[in-house]
Amino acid sequence: MPGPDPLLAESLGKIARDIDSMFDALLPNASDNRSVLGQAMRHAAIGGGKRLRPLLLTATAAMYGADRTHALRAAVAIEAVHVYSLVHDDLPCMDDDDLRHGKPTVHKAFGEAMAVLVGDALQAFAFELLADPATSGDPFVRAELVQVLATAAGGGGMVGGQVLDIMGEGQALSLPEITRLQQLKTGALLGAAVEMGAVLGKVPSEGRTHLRGYARDIGLAFQIADDLLDHEGDADKAGKALRKDAEAGKQTFVALLGPERAREQAQMLMDQAIAHLAAHGQEADVLRALAHYVVERDH
Ligand code: IPE
Ligand code: IPE
Ligand code: MG
Ligand code: MG
Ligand code: MG
Repeated sequence: MPGPDPLLAESLGKIARDIDSMFDALLPNASDNRSVLGQAMRHAAIGGGKRLRPLLLTATAAMYGADRTHALRAAVAIEAVHVYSLVHDDLPCMDDDDLRHGKPTVHKAFGEAMAVLVGDALQAFAFELLADPATSGDPFVRAELVQVLATAAGGGGMVGGQVLDIMGEGQALSLPEITRLQQLKTGALLGAAVEMGAVLGKVPSEGRTHLRGYARDIGLAFQIADDLLDHEGDADKAGKALRKDAEAGKQTFVALLGPERAREQAQMLMDQAIAHLAAHGQEADVLRALAHYVVERDH
């Protein structure tokens, strides 16, 4: 499988370094008995992950000339929500996983109670960052960032998708039902990353239609790729246990369509995502390369 193109490889490397150093600078550092919380939050948040949501957010913000420091703070916020969702997703009461990003999961390293609290604290941290004037001098922008992320994270977004994922175990869902599940579970946060970039770039809501179309298509393509990787990927590269979905009776595109048709569907969505960017020039090249990467990645 080919690696990401040079522009994307550079962007992925840069965002990973920026997000790691910002998490380290911004996460709590208590000198009393709460110091373990800061350690566990750093274990979860630093040194792993592809940082796709931060790159989507900062690349979209850059297309519209937004300040990179502002965009990076918003990117740390959305990544904090994503990391929290993984910490809770890995808990014994959910997917019961021992490995994430090639390291022990938070509950393995720090215990279950701490893993629940790490997730809770990361979520609050995200909104604290967004509401801070250092993220944008414009209170309307800050309020909209908070609203977009909250909507994507809650029952109408990621958490709602996790509920459908659990309720669907062992059931035969239809293609529209699986699509809905995946749009909430993963599509919502990926969509919020693009939307938050547009908010920082002061793109009016009616000017965001093509970006929403792009995000919807890469969101579905992303989840099909995650399901394909679970089905046939390399666990060492993934840094997490694979071959779990079928055993758990998870309703995925691969379960319903089979791997070949699922792969075709992902390719089709990638082409469609890129077509949404037709009105843009070079400034959208990172988003185009990301659409390829989402489907062609090996982890
Ligand atoms: C994995 O997301 C979990 C899903 C939402 C399917 P990513 O593949 O973006 O996770 P990391 O952060 O890069 O590990
Ligand atoms: C997790 O989906 C999605 C969220 C955390 C919202 P998965 O359970 O498929 O993710 P992995 O495969 O464990 O990364
Ligand atoms: Mg899960
Ligand atoms: Mg999981
Ligand atoms: Mg998965």
